[in-house]
Parts: sequence; structure tokens; C-alpha cells
Amino acid sequence: MKNIAVIGAGTMGNGIAHVFAQNGFHVTIIDVSLSQLEHAVATITRNLDRQVAKGGITEEQKKATLANIVLDSSFVDGVKDADLVVEAASEKIDVKLEIFDRLDKFCPRTTILATNTSSISISKIASATGRADKVIGMHFMNPVPVMKLVEIINGYATSPEVTSQIVELSKQLGKIPCVVNDYPGFIANRILMPMINEAVYSLFEGVAGVEEIDTVMKLGMAHPMGPLQLADFIGLDVCLSILQVLQAGFGNPKYAPCPLLVNMVTAGKLGVKSGEGFYTYTPGSKELVVSKRFK
Ligand code: CAA
Repeated sequence: MKNIAVIGAGTMGNGIAHVFAQNGFHVTIIDVSLSQLEHAVATITRNLDRQVAKGGITEEQKKATLANIVLDSSFVDGVKDADLVVEAASEKIDVKLEIFDRLDKFCPRTTILATNTSSISISKIASATGRADKVIGMHFMNPVPVMKLVEIINGYATSPEVTSQIVELSKQLGKIPCVVNDYPGFIANRILMPMINEAVYSLFEGVAGVEEIDTVMKLGMAHPMGPLQLADFIGLDVCLSILQVLQAGFGNPKYAPCPLLVNMVTAGKLGVKSGEGFYTYTPGSKELVVSKRFK
């Protein structure tokens, strides 16, 4: 594999493009929004600068990485030579079904179609194509250049050859692949989201404050971030939609999202990306300040 197309230039898309390009692949980032494409390159450049400053890579490696990336706002041109497409568009089933329908039409028959979905069924996404054997989940973790895991999800019809290829490819990226099956939330979010939801319930019921909940989990369980800070980092809207997928998929009320989480999303308090969630965020500041609402 040499040519990779990444659909979507958001946080996950630019991180995925960064990692492929840094490992010598030719990457085309495709997004309908030109400003989003420009923002993605600015983010990748900033993250590469940080790696250079910390001595992780050289200035030449940074330049070579950037030279491996091209931008395209045309879906048709961007995917026509792709050996692999990694879709990292928004977490909406209708959007993904439309993208995979188009990918099936415009990609060569041999192209593997991967999705970075965090919880939507791979088998469902594959049903929009005529090549379900070549559709697979390739779930990267944020921040992609830092996190070692790639959760690889076999759809109902994914062929074992395609799984092996994606496992090998993940290793070439310096990642540790872990293969799981296609049930709601897969493994990562089936376990992570109930923990986050329980943290929100603990706050909602007044068992403890934001800092106390996060400190218990950081210091007591050696988590790099507490669950409420992590929820802000992931995006509260994303957490809510994954919990809804778990609740609908299993039909089990234990996955029902906490009403406080629902209220916060309704009020537009989405965490880091909106500037406020359980904490408030000031651009350029690393200080963690609990949101006024929870003081
Ligand atoms: N690109 C490149 N490098 C980055 C980076 C980025 N976007 N963000 C951080 N880094 C690097 C830093 O340069 C630094 O490198 P060194 O170790 O070489 O110095 C290292 O990562 C640590 O960064 P910082 O010192 O700035 O900050 P930190 O020590 O607080 O770590 C963190 C930041 C890596 C994000 C850490 O807090 C962490 O691991 N948090 C948990 C992240 C997590 O759980 N992610 C999974 C979320 S779930 C998901 O993504 C999937 C889903 O479906 C919801």
C-alpha cells in the first residue's frame, strides 16, 4: 500500500493523515471545506514542530512528512488512486452511508475502505457498498500521533485477508493493533463510555465535585486524565451519541446517558471544542479551570 486517502480534515482526520505521512505514505486529505483543509495542515505543522522541538523527529523528517500530504476538495479525484481510504467524517450514520456509497463507485475495486467510526456498526456501513469483504473499522485514538492503539473492527463480512493487511499496516505506522468484533461500541467505547457516564452521574447526584471525581481516577487508577476532563477532550456531543448507540444497540437502560450530559450538549457546552464543558478552556492556556456552573 502506498496511496492513502483520508476523508475528513477534522481532529481525527488530520491526526490520521499526520501518522501515515510521517511513515512514508502518500496521503490525500479530502474535505468539502477548504478552510478545514487549511486548518488541518496548520495543525499537522504545529504538531510536527512540537515533535521537532522535543527531538522526536528532525526538521528534514518534518519537511518530508508535509511533502507527502496533498489536499483535495474533490472526492472523485482524491480517491481514484487510493489503495486504502480511511473515512473520518462526522459521526452520523446517514453521512457515512452516503460517503461509502460514493467510495464504492469511485474507488478501484481493490481499494480497502476503512472507517474511523467510534461506534457505528461496520456491517451497516459496509451495506452501502458492493464490497463488504473490503470494509473494516480502523479506530484511532485521539491524539492520533501519540496514542499507540488502533482498534481494528471486523464487520460481519470483512475478509480475513483484509484484516491481516490492516493489522500489518497498523504495525508499519508504529501502532499496536487490536482486533475486535462488530458489536455496539466495539471494545474501547463499550468500556470507556459507561465509565464517563458514571462520572457524570456522580457529579449530577452530588456525590463529589468535578475536581474530586477526576482526581480520584487520575491518582487512584493512574489515568492520564480524569473521566470528566477526558469527556471534554473527546467532546460531550460525541460521548452522548456513543451512549445512545450503546443504549439502542443493546436495548439496555444501563447505557442511558445521564440527564446532565444531555442538558450540557443541548446547551452547546461540548467541552474543549466549544470552550466550556466540565472545565472552561482559554486558547493557549494549559491551566485546568472548573466551569463556574460546577464550582
Ligand atoms: N500531536 C503530536 N504530539 C502530541 C500531541 C499531538 N496532537 N498532543 C500531545 N503530544 C505529545 C507531546 O508533544 C508530548 O510528547 P513527549 O512525551 O515526547 O514530551 C506528549 O504527547 C504529552 O503531551 P503533553 O506534555 O502536552 O501533555 P500531557 O502529558 O498532559 O499528555 C495527553 C497529553 C497525551 C493527551 C494525555 O493527557 C493523555 O494520554 N490523555 C488521555 C487521552 C485518551 O484517553 N485518548 C483516547 C480518547 S478516546 C478516543 O480517542 C476514541 C473515541 O472513540 C472516543
